[in-house]
Amino acid sequence: MSDTQTYIDSNIEAFQEQLFDLLRIPSVSTDSSHKKDVQKAAEFLVGQLEDIGLDNITLHQTEGHPIITAEKTPYDDRPTVLIYGHYDVQPPDPEDLWETPPFEPTIKDGRVYARGASDDKGQSFTHIKSVESYLKTDTELPVNIKFILEGEEEIGSPNLVPFINENKELLECDMVLISDTAMFGEDQPSITYGLRGLAYMEVHVQGPNRDLHSGVYGGAVDNPANVLADIISKLKDEDGVIQVEGFYDDVEPMTPEMREAYKKLPHDDEAYKKDLNLKAVRGEKGYSTLERASARPTLDVNGLWSGYQGEGAKTVLPAKAGAKISMRLVPDQEPKKIAKLFKKHVESVAPESVEVTVEEHHGGHPVVIDLDFYGLKAAAKAFEEIYETDVLFAREGGSIPIVADFKKILGVNSILMGFGLTRDALHSPNESFSLKDFHRGIKTSAKFLELLPDYAE
Ligand code: BES
Ligand code: ZN
Repeated sequence: MSDTQTYIDSNIEAFQEQLFDLLRIPSVSTDSSHKKDVQKAAEFLVGQLEDIGLDNITLHQTEGHPIITAEKTPYDDRPTVLIYGHYDVQPPDPEDLWETPPFEPTIKDGRVYARGASDDKGQSFTHIKSVESYLKTDTELPVNIKFILEGEEEIGSPNLVPFINENKELLECDMVLISDTAMFGEDQPSITYGLRGLAYMEVHVQGPNRDLHSGVYGGAVDNPANVLADIISKLKDEDGVIQVEGFYDDVEPMTPEMREAYKKLPHDDEAYKKDLNLKAVRGEKGYSTLERASARPTLDVNGLWSGYQGEGAKTVLPAKAGAKISMRLVPDQEPKKIAKLFKKHVESVAPESVEVTVEEHHGGHPVVIDLDFYGLKAAAKAFEEIYETDVLFAREGGSIPIVADFKKILGVNSILMGFGLTRDALHSPNESFSLKDFHRGIKTSAKFLELLPDYAE
């Protein structure tokens, strides 16, 4: 075994402890009361990068949370890999559903439970430790390495795109390496070659100037909650087809070859239903579960509020209602265009009796990576060596909008080398990450760096 792989095996316990220290920092980017914690997580990572001996380590303050860059670029004639990760996390709520405290990493059945364990602290930490395995042993670093770590991924990376635009030279590279996705299954590594984009909207319906007695006014005054439910129910037809005019105009249809490739992926609807305790799977007619969950666009309510939510019954006609609605997008849908179409549609179907306003939140472009890219081949080989099994190539339904921006601004492909699993419960209570995959992830990353020069074009 090479020096680096032995180094990883001998130090895995220390690596876990360091990861747990990072997981103890509640770096919730969306919650301003955690601003100092996000900063603390950034400083922790700066300390890590210093310890392993990278150069030009910089913590760039932004209008929001900091961006960290660092590098070790000794070669003129070898590829440069830019490693991207995010150290911010989603809020832990609903906190009462956590079996152990979200910011107290707890090991159970070979998994570490904590917010951010998989998304993305655990996964991105693998690369820091992999680079360490070169810098702390006698094995020569095989390629040039750069890091970019951000604290705003979960809120749409508002400061990262301008940062990349202003720092093209600093970030110049041949490819981006990201571990923020899932493998196809347990012991079944996969490379994600497509991600969906996102358009996120908020709809408000305002009725009367105050909540009313539903007996005194009910029937005569339009109810914002009913109106909103009516609007939402008509956003899709009974076949699951989205009714926003123009929504599918730019959707790249699935080719017969793509559909064949999907059919070959191992998937079992019965197991899927069992895992989620579903009575049936349901979605856009004519497509399979895997196609619906990654190759087709969606429209989903993410949050819905109105009226009385307390115990028992209160007879009230609410003055207002609201919903947060996300649309996952596929190539070549444009988030801004889709947001505009959605707004126009909702405003056009709203009755005159109420005031409907539609607001746009962050969005992101979908992306599909060319399977011929040599970096993907090196990544596949690395997975195969460490996991000792074939690698699958699959598209995923989640979004990492910066991947499309890396392509657009820096002109480079990303390698989505996920070590997570769908069962990691990202964004949900009891998020976890397999410690075995943390270990194999570090080894796969180190192997990838070792193999890459052989594949470079
Ligand atoms: N790690 C996820 C993205 C992901 C999850 C990709 C699973 C593939 C499979 C990432 O941290 C995330 O949650 N992204 C957000 C993006 C949004 C805030 C713009 C998402 O997908 O909701
Ligand atoms: Zn996430």
